[in-house]
Amino acid sequence: MAIDYEPIKPEIGARIRAGKDEVLDPAFVRELDALLAERIVLVFPELHLTDEEQLAFTDLLGERVDFVKEVPGADATAPGIYKITLDPTLNDNPDYVYGTYFWHMDGVMEQIPPPRATLLSARAVAAKGGQTEFANLFAAWENLPEEEKRDLEGLRAVHSVFAAIRPTLPFDVTPATWQGIKKRREHPLVWTHADGRRSLLVGTHAEEVVGMGLPEGRALLTRLLEWAAQPAFTYRHHWKVGDFVVWLNPGALHRVIPYDRHSGRVMHRTSIAGTEPIQ
Ligand SMILES: [Fe+2]
Repeated sequence: MAIDYEPIKPEIGARIRAGKDEVLDPAFVRELDALLAERIVLVFPELHLTDEEQLAFTDLLGERVDFVKEVPGADATAPGIYKITLDPTLNDNPDYVYGTYFWHMDGVMEQIPPPRATLLSARAVAAKGGQTEFANLFAAWENLPEEEKRDLEGLRAVHSVFAAIRPTLPFDVTPATWQGIKKRREHPLVWTHADGRRSLLVGTHAEEVVGMGLPEGRALLTRLLEWAAQPAFTYRHHWKVGDFVVWLNPGALHRVIPYDRHSGRVMHRTSIAGTEPIQ
């Protein structure tokens, strides 16, 4: 089965032309997995999947992981689906969601491999803001000058939950009681994947470079993040209700353009378990 799609930008994204019946066909989903590895972000415009259909698709793509019970503010009324929203009537702990305004990869601080894919359905969109941006971390690595690549080989960085949410906090607040606030993990700056490809591993959560002074390390991490987030490697998705987007989480950073807490924006998220540790 050939998948009908068009690339969105040379380095990232594919817009898939397929109806629900095709999308829920196991043979289609098997082929989609290879396209996901190549294009990083797959967009299914106005597909309008129900929760049941999204869960069925998720189960075809891989092993579903359920973060619903662990994430503050999650709504557990739809098992397996995490509703991402700032709406105070649906989410009583929006602070966690504010962290999504900043470039990050899901699951970097966990003991298990980061989710292989994240899947989002747009149920309600914001009138202003709320677009999601993605950055291709394979392209970010591959396009670095060779000399800079050599300098980065072997370097390791510490990632922390605190660094990830620090931009959301006032200067005098230390949320010591937050679930997971003290989680820190050390990872290579360059991730060599099972298929041999390599990607940069940076993000707001990257806190320091091991063996480097704090200022030098943070300056390097900031420069690499700016490099990875340049327009050539990124795609900004303007959501319409019913859009369904799947991305290769280990190969991408993502963030949302800020939107009003009372905008009504609601995304339904499912996740696929990671298949390879960061190494
Ligand atoms: Fe995220």
